[in-house]
Amino acid sequence: MSEISSVLKESRLFKPSTDFAKRAHFHNPSAYKKLRAQAEKRPDKFWADQAKHLYWQKPFKKALEWKFPFAKWFIGGKINAAENCLDVHLGSERQNKAAIIWEGEPGDARTLTYLQLSLEVNKLANGLKSLGVKKGDVVGVYMGMIPEAVISMLACARIGATHNVVFGGFSGEALRDRLNNSKAKVLLTQDGAFRRGSASALKGNVHSILDQIPTLEKAVVLKRTNQDTPMKDGRDIWWSDLVGKQSDSCKAEALDSEHPLFILYTSGSTGKPKGILHTTGGYLTQVKYTTHYTFDLRDEDIYFCTADIGWVTGHSYVTYGPLMNGATVFMYEGAPNYPGPDRFWSLIAKHKISIFYTAPTAIRAFMRSGDDLPRKHDLTSLRLLGSVGEPINPEAWMWYHDVIGGKHCPIVDTWWQTETGAIMVTPMPGVVPTKPGTATLPIPGILADVVDRNGKSCKANEGGLLVVKHPWPAMLRTVFGDKERYTKTYWADFKKNKFYFSGDGARKDKDGYIWIMGRVDDVVNVSGHRLGTAEVESAIVSNHKVAEAAVVARPDELKGSALVAFVTLKAGAKAGNPDLDALKTELKNWVAKEIGPIAKPDDIRFADALPKTRSGKIMRRLLREMVTTGKTSGDTSTLEDFSVLEKLRQDEE
Ligand code: WTA
Repeated sequence: MSEISSVLKESRLFKPSTDFAKRAHFHNPSAYKKLRAQAEKRPDKFWADQAKHLYWQKPFKKALEWKFPFAKWFIGGKINAAENCLDVHLGSERQNKAAIIWEGEPGDARTLTYLQLSLEVNKLANGLKSLGVKKGDVVGVYMGMIPEAVISMLACARIGATHNVVFGGFSGEALRDRLNNSKAKVLLTQDGAFRRGSASALKGNVHSILDQIPTLEKAVVLKRTNQDTPMKDGRDIWWSDLVGKQSDSCKAEALDSEHPLFILYTSGSTGKPKGILHTTGGYLTQVKYTTHYTFDLRDEDIYFCTADIGWVTGHSYVTYGPLMNGATVFMYEGAPNYPGPDRFWSLIAKHKISIFYTAPTAIRAFMRSGDDLPRKHDLTSLRLLGSVGEPINPEAWMWYHDVIGGKHCPIVDTWWQTETGAIMVTPMPGVVPTKPGTATLPIPGILADVVDRNGKSCKANEGGLLVVKHPWPAMLRTVFGDKERYTKTYWADFKKNKFYFSGDGARKDKDGYIWIMGRVDDVVNVSGHRLGTAEVESAIVSNHKVAEAAVVARPDELKGSALVAFVTLKAGAKAGNPDLDALKTELKNWVAKEIGPIAKPDDIRFADALPKTRSGKIMRRLLREMVTTGKTSGDTSTLEDFSVLEKLRQDEE
């Protein structure tokens, strides 16, 4: 019996347009196929060739050293991440090109050229040194989306300090735990940030809890909103006081290829946060490669990735990837729905954004507010769209394609994880035809596969577990301070085969395309069939009245378990359908028709919003607990909005 039964039917196929393909970095499908086959045979050689596109202070001697489950890449090489993002462009035609074009939520704007960005990084790097920060020290970053967040990361990288960015929306407790776990010495933060029309405090919110971080010696505070901010004598210092007096030149440390570049905490949707450790040479290699090819990046592009710097996407595809490639990065400070739900569309029209990379949760939210808003704006500058973070439901994909992409932009659905560091599975846009709902093929040099519990490759369309069969350069090196957890979480399930287990369920179709079926922890078991949540949810979302859905199982005496679907309706659908019971029946029958009676939900509950992590992933665990025990327990520090749970609970009573 297969690990997970697949029920989704989707057969639409979109070939790259000739116009797009003829200019694309990868434009010859058979050459691409050949490259993938070669790289599959010799992945280390493939990645060593890519690593040569970086600037190495000392060349590496050997590509990979693999002592299961610990990998080292580009042994003997010396390299610096900041130098690869900045100095390599100085003295070239890119020196005075915009590296960052930034817009604040109130509409204020700044542009930093590569030269200007590099001078700012050098000043902060010297400032950090003057505070006693040395190679190997950990520096916390707790900031909003302003250029200084990028400057902070690069300044750390320049001197060999390891950054630990904590999402600016997290609580003081979450910040404290992460800084304590990583033993941070200095914190870079700001007085406040503009969000949904007002200045919300960052430093002020965490001020008193900083006393509970024994390793913390200094906090450097940037003024962004000029709000009143408590400062502690001897510990806290204003950014301008520190940086104002520093020299704008600073040598880039020659760092070992395996030098820790950053620690980033991830909790997934369950459990205690893990400090994912990434190092330098391998990470940069895969991030640079994937940014160049996946987004088909060119010098004339203006590239907007909406991810916050607090997530891995903000690390790899706001900061390191685009800057290593000399791109112009557009960065926006505030909420996507301020002053109205069309802020992104107005930014695209105003700045002539050509590449736009966002998450399915955002796409579904935009769909919910209707087509009129994007249609009001000129989105013709767009030439490529990307998606990351969750499976994108085919209907959301179609909407993104038609309404945002004007039917001519390829969509790169990118599967990867905080742990993988960089994109692993994605359609290279000039050569791989796309199908709505799949991230398609592993990129060259990535040996991803769908296997059963014994590590045997699944047959076409048989649901199984997504694994990576060979180390890859941007892979996590460990869980900071906890090798055992690293080994147990990622490498214990397929110890015999030495495969990395992603935690995702998936199937491969007859073309080898990988369809993510959801986290294995979320799989629902109905009458002996194990179904991936993503497929049932996609079927529900394909009904034109539905904006979003989350499916969980509750114990059922007869069937073992019964499906409960939490459904968010599109604007207007609720008002237009006053008889909610009839609507429930309609949706149940819809699912039965779309994928078969087995997946028909026993219960449908309408909700105004679903519980999500702060990066937008639906927290099914909480819904499962709620329908099973009526309570929710465990870690909820990553939950975005507590009132959502309260509301769902009341609806139940
Ligand atoms: C999910 C984000 C389907 C998946 C970069 C993965 C996806 C987890 C996709 C990692 C995608 C991410 N299609 N599912 N294109 N991208 N996921 O660590 O379950 O925040 O394991 O990294 O998100 O999330 P993380």
